[in-house]
Amino acid sequence: MIEITNLYKTYHSTEGNVEALKGINLKVEKGEIFGVIGFSGAGKSSLIRCVNMLEKPTSGSVVVNGLEMTQLTGQNLRNARKKIGMIFQHFNLLESCTVFENVAVALELSNTPKQVITEKVNNLLSIVGLADKKNNYPSQLSGGQKQRVAIARALANDIEVLLCDEATSALDPQTTNAILDLLLDINKKFQITILLITHEMHVIKKICDKVAVIENGQIIEEDTVLNVFTNPKNQTTKNFIKSIMEEDLPESVLKKLQKEDRNSNILKLTFVGCNAAQPVLARIAKELPVWPNILSGNIIQIKDQTLGRLIIELAGDSNSIEAGIQILKEQNVLTEVLNYD
Ligand SMILES: Nc1ncnc2c1ncn2[C@@H]1O[C@H](COP(=O)(O)OP(=O)(O)O)[C@@H](O)[C@H]1O
Ligand SMILES: [Mg+2]
Repeated sequence: MIEITNLYKTYHSTEGNVEALKGINLKVEKGEIFGVIGFSGAGKSSLIRCVNMLEKPTSGSVVVNGLEMTQLTGQNLRNARKKIGMIFQHFNLLESCTVFENVAVALELSNTPKQVITEKVNNLLSIVGLADKKNNYPSQLSGGQKQRVAIARALANDIEVLLCDEATSALDPQTTNAILDLLLDINKKFQITILLITHEMHVIKKICDKVAVIENGQIIEEDTVLNVFTNPKNQTTKNFIKSIMEEDLPESVLKKLQKEDRNSNILKLTFVGCNAAQPVLARIAKELPVWPNILSGNIIQIKDQTLGRLIIELAGDSNSIEAGIQILKEQNVLTEVLNYD
């Protein structure tokens, strides 16, 4: 649905040139929710704005639904853009228009008959849960409600792709979740492909199927969200994951362990779905002269799957520990020996 190849974007200003994007390659399949995560200044907005040509790429190709966007001009570009909705961090609503009028605007521009507009806008407002606010002005709405208006407006053109530029970054956590649920709902109901950018891992984990990590204008890691959480490769990716899933042991636990004089390894165990670690730990303790001791554990939801993480101390003689690790690996528990020296 979206294919970006070798995309470069350089801004020219009096202070010099800024290379915001340096050879981006991305492929988003139809119906997918694809997230791009990165710190401020990484190039996220430049990237998403190059998809609908709000920014003109310096070089490279951007194909959306079979159309090479970089080659389109005039009416052809306007027609292609109609199928690509966009929502923003600060909503960008028309302050002097009512909720109804904000959603109707695009339909009026394309000369849709009045009765069709009324029907369609009312329907969209009920989908986003704002049927009772249609005569209100944006200043009378909360942030979450404003974003709902923006989503209804984006949907008015029967879009195929929705671009979200930090759409929940101005919202509190609870409202963020409600808006993310709405995006999920829309993705399922209308098969709309969503490309979103964010600096929050929570957004990625809650609704995305795939994720790419962007740093200094380049994609440094990309995979399904589950794979990235299970086995992150890049340090920046690891740091983003730490924001929701603590990997380090509390200082006090670590000190206590270091004082104890026994042969042991600290293991990080990751298990997906029903592949629970608990029975495996019981098994190795039964079969081998080893003592598993759970030090920390958590479980998180990644879209519709669960990911569990345990940090354990496995005590025993070196050969038995090695045999225990072998059993864990055979049971498909991702096992990593942590080094705390
Ligand atoms: N219009 C512009 N002119 C000059 N530099 C810009 C412009 N827009 C963005 N940049 C620069 O490009 C880089 C990437 O910016 P941006 O794409 O907005 O990153 P992000 O959205 O990840 O914060 C930054 O260094 C930013 O200062
Ligand atoms: Mg940005």
